[in-house]
Amino acid sequence: MHPPLHPLPSREGKQGDCFSCAGNGTARTFMAAKKIIAIIGSYRRDGIIEHAADVILRAAAEKGAETEKVRLIESRIEFCRNCRKCTQQEGPQRGACVQADDMEEILNKIEAADGLVLASPVNFFGVTAVTQRFIERLVCYACWPWGKPGPALRLKDRGIRAVLVTSSAMPAAPGRIFTRSLGGLKRAAQTLGAKPAGTLFIGKAALREKQDLPQAILDKARKLGYELAR
Ligand SMILES: Cc1cc2nc3c(=O)[nH]c(=O)nc-3n(C[C@H](O)[C@H](O)[C@H](O)COP(=O)(O)O)c2cc1C
Repeated sequence: MHPPLHPLPSREGKQGDCFSCAGNGTARTFMAAKKIIAIIGSYRRDGIIEHAADVILRAAAEKGAETEKVRLIESRIEFCRNCRKCTQQEGPQRGACVQADDMEEILNKIEAADGLVLASPVNFFGVTAVTQRFIERLVCYACWPWGKPGPALRLKDRGIRAVLVTSSAMPAAPGRIFTRSLGGLKRAAQTLGAKPAGTLFIGKAALREKQDLPQAILDKARKLGYELAR
């Protein structure tokens, strides 16, 4: 079933929907599979970020979730023009952007999901430029008519959860303190009405061109995948 163009933003009553039928007098219950979507802000298909996201998605799929991955670098996403046309109308529905690109389809998928993975490497202490470009386009989830001093989020809680993933050359402990990427991803999740389900910070991620994930990271990624599918 395709989601409507602007589906109702709240996922309340959607997660784990039960459909009962009593055709032969016996009640049967079916649980709808959870949908988990990963938004990948890495420039590399075979890099640390995509590997970690794959582990999370595989774990969620093990628990019966339907999973999907969107690579921002392969999507046509224009820069936000700061025209604020999408922020003028009040109400819980996201505002319509004046630009026709892949953002509409990506946001429809996000709104149809029960859980998100938002993932970006640390570049110059923040998220990658392709991730930042995506995040700025989330302004359509804010109501900010001309004359108002600042934006107000349309929805604080859509009943969905997000796992945030980042990686850096520096070790994770200083990385959590000195870089802004997790903060940026957290703000994106909030803007999308998602509550945090956990974070994965992968330090020392730039030692080799192709690097395996340490066992502790694999274990945590798997747990986060299970958590999202719960
Ligand atoms: C342009 C560029 C900027 C970077 N800036 C930082 C940085 O500020 N701090 C840091 O710890 N690592 C930095 N790194 C290392 C990346 O975070 C690391 O290569 C990335 O996490 C690997 O992710 P990937 O395997 O998915 O590409 C930078 C790398 C590049 C290429």
